[in-house]
Formats: sequence, structure tokens, C-alpha cells
Amino acid sequence: MYDFAPDRDLPKPELYRDVLSAADALTSGEPDGVANMANLAALIWQLVPDLNWAGFYRMVGGELVLGPFCGKPACIRIPLGQGVCGTAAASGQTQRVPDVHAFPGHIACDAASRSELVVPVIRAGEVISVIDLDSPLPARFDAEDQTAFEALAALIADRI
Ligand code: SME
Repeated sequence: MYDFAPDRDLPKPELYRDVLSAADALTSGEPDGVANMANLAALIWQLVPDLNWAGFYRMVGGELVLGPFCGKPACIRIPLGQGVCGTAAASGQTQRVPDVHAFPGHIACDAASRSELVVPVIRAGEVISVIDLDSPLPARFDAEDQTAFEALAALIADRI
């Protein structure tokens, strides 16, 4: 059993210090990428408040394919350049979207989603995956969330 003693009311610096430390401990030395993505999705879901979806899409054969996640069943394949995830994967740039309804081409997997943060995971210069977070709250994600998840993406790039 892993118990990371979640305190979802922590201020963000402490919360994300805990998330990164737990993510490191969970994935360090484990070579199986699916197992690591599954545990990371569960960890984010457990520790990060106000999410309705948290997980991974992986780059497979030139498109994004659903990976381990927590939340409602989601669309399985996303072409590069489409939706928030496909835009992040095609550009290699984090997409922080305060209002998904205002994002051209947003793909609605869960009607409850109002804002979204998608962070590319880059290994050896290639986007290999994206971390996708959806929230039912508008403008849920700020620059601090973005910086923390970009640090998480860098930490796990060789482990998924
Ligand atoms: N909203 C995403 C699709 C994935 S779901 O949010 C899980 C997008 O526009 O790419």
C-alpha cells in the first residue's frame, strides 16, 4: 500500500512538492511505463483538487492514443493538431485553457469540463505523451499549476 497522506488543502508550493516527491518515489526504478502512468494518474487524482479527469495520451503511430487515466471513459484517438491535447502534442507547448468552450476544436470527452491543462512529455526532443488535466471549474489552472506539471513531465519523461 502507498499512503501519501493527502492533504488537498495544502498551499500549492507544498502540495506540488509532495506530488513531485511522491511521483519520484512511485516511479523510481520501475521500468514499466504503463504501470508508472497508471500510478501517476491515480496520484494526481488523489492529491490535486478540483479535477474531473487526469491522465495520459501517448504518441502512437503519429497520433495520440488514450493511456492510463482517472475519470470518465474518454475518446481513444486524437489526431495531432486537433483539440487541446493534439495542439499540445503538435506544438510541444503546454496548453493552459481557462475556458474550453472558447478553444477552437476542443474535444469534449466529459461535458463537465470547463478548463484544461495539457503538458507535453518530451524525451530526446520528441513528444512521447501528454499529461491531460480537466477541471469542472473555469480557469482552474494558473501558472503555478503549469510550472508544477511541466516539472512532473520532465521528471517522468524517461519513466513512461
Ligand atoms: N479535451 C481534450 C480531449 C481529451 S479529454 O479532455 C479527456 C482535447 O480537447 O484534446
